Amino acid sequence: MSRSAAFDLLPGSDKNEVPAGIVQLNRSISRALRRQRGDFQYYDEPAGDPSLRQQIALRAAKRGWQAEVDELCITSGCQQSLFLALMAVCQKGDVVAVEAPGFYGVLQLLEQLRLQVVEIPASAETGLDVGAFEQTLQRWDIKACVVSPSFATPTGASMPLHSRVHLIELAERHDLAIIEDDIYGESGWLVVPDTLKAVDHPNRVIHCSSLSKVLSRDLRLGWISGGRWHDDIVRLKLTSQLASSRFIQRGVADFFADGGYAAYLRRYRQQLQQQRDQLLDLLGTWPVPIRATSPAGGLALWLELPEQVDTIKLYNRALDEGVVITPGELFSMSGKFSNCLRLSFAHPWTRARAEALMRLPSLMA
Ligand SMILES: Cc1ncc(COP(=O)(O)O)c(C=O)c1O
Repeated sequence: MSRSAAFDLLPGSDKNEVPAGIVQLNRSISRALRRQRGDFQYYDEPAGDPSLRQQIALRAAKRGWQAEVDELCITSGCQQSLFLALMAVCQKGDVVAVEAPGFYGVLQLLEQLRLQVVEIPASAETGLDVGAFEQTLQRWDIKACVVSPSFATPTGASMPLHSRVHLIELAERHDLAIIEDDIYGESGWLVVPDTLKAVDHPNRVIHCSSLSKVLSRDLRLGWISGGRWHDDIVRLKLTSQLASSRFIQRGVADFFADGGYAAYLRRYRQQLQQQRDQLLDLLGTWPVPIRATSPAGGLALWLELPEQVDTIKLYNRALDEGVVITPGELFSMSGKFSNCLRLSFAHPWTRARAEALMRLPSLMA
């Protein structure tokens, strides 16, 4: 199966009501649209609307990072941010380190940009193995490392502070860029971890994020803070996109400024926690031995099934039953994780979804 086919949805996902927070967001965007005068005849500045960047900077400050408005550039999502980051620091053929298992969208980008990949093992609890990365640096001339320090996909792992500090030291010692994918950072319900930027004293972290996972995938609104490569990144955005939509940015900035986002996020985190608990309860009744992570943020958990289970085969059988899962092999270039699965708890457990989940063990034989 191709990486582009990867998404994990069980039946019944799109019949949910629109949450009150999203209704309020839509109102803010409509108001911004109504306020528009002659803007439609002009492009926004390439770095994006200053009022939105200001709001993003305020949220960054709550996570240990005093970001300046000028250090932020608005993008059309985290995937574009990651793309701009790789474009800014790498040339064709360069070597980039990624965590394994790790986000398949990064693997697609590396393939597309003709970059070489070195996979660094990542623990399901504490993320990137920085010791293993240090050893790999002895053998490879690595240009950049893409990492998700907070609630990594697919495992939900978060890196402890000492690993983060060690990673930054290595970046400085080996003249590397660290590309931080922070898309799940704000989803944490027990704690909202600091960004990696919070310990980035040498300014070697390129921070990439978006609102796709915590608010709306359809806004197509993300941002990037490029550290010492920031000016190049803003130029790359200008040449590839010119500008972002101004009224969407202003509407979202208002939604942040009037407290709508913070209130929405509080409810959403609680809902995610409940949905994760329900998923773990359902998995507890499966008649097969499994190992599941129990993340305190993010939208998915990682499931290790008995060794003989091939989750690509399971994917095909489940698809015939109208159930879509994400097989573990998609999260690595090297065919590992064939007995693993990422399971999403992003949606409420309707009866149809719970029944679909309970059918999976019978399809494993
Ligand atoms: C870890 C991670 N990074 C980046 C992206 C891309 O996000 P966006 O929709 O903001 O482009 C995704 C989307 O699935 C993701 O899971």
